[in-house]
Amino acid sequence: MTFQLAQQRATSKHELYDQLASQLSSLLAGERDLISNAANFSSLIFHSLLDLNWAGFYFVKNGELVLGPFQGKPACVRIKMGQGVCGAGAAKCETLIVPNVHEFPGHIACDSASNSEIVVPLMKDFRLIGVLDLDSPAPSRFDQDDAAGLETLVRILLSSVSS
Ligand code: SME
Repeated sequence: MTFQLAQQRATSKHELYDQLASQLSSLLAGERDLISNAANFSSLIFHSLLDLNWAGFYFVKNGELVLGPFQGKPACVRIKMGQGVCGAGAAKCETLIVPNVHEFPGHIACDSASNSEIVVPLMKDFRLIGVLDLDSPAPSRFDQDDAAGLETLVRILLSSVSS
């Protein structure tokens, strides 16, 4: 099984996310296990998007966020709802773009290299089941195009595991 990284062919961010959507659909086809598909998702993203130092998931368990599959340095395992960028995005059930994590109240620094971050909620049947979290060493790395592209990728992940 070999994958060509999308960024090698894309000429724009839109095109890159279109290619990633198609690669992700193929990658997850035929498998319904959430952990396996989230693991391959985080690997694809980490190796395809530029300037990332962490890409992965937290899943809701007993009312808090618990670390799931990821790529990057080891990270904090449990995050309370409302705490840090992940907890804030989870509590609001909305995508959160943080251009400068050092200015975000309560930011949880798992990797001191991180300067900007984006969190995308995972909503299944109108219920929050977790968040996707991406960190970057570059300031203001993420914009609305990333938010829209990542929300599409998250929808592909969630539909791959739905019955
Ligand atoms: N920075 C996050 C914590 C998770 S790590 O970035 C992997 C936060 O503030 O919630």
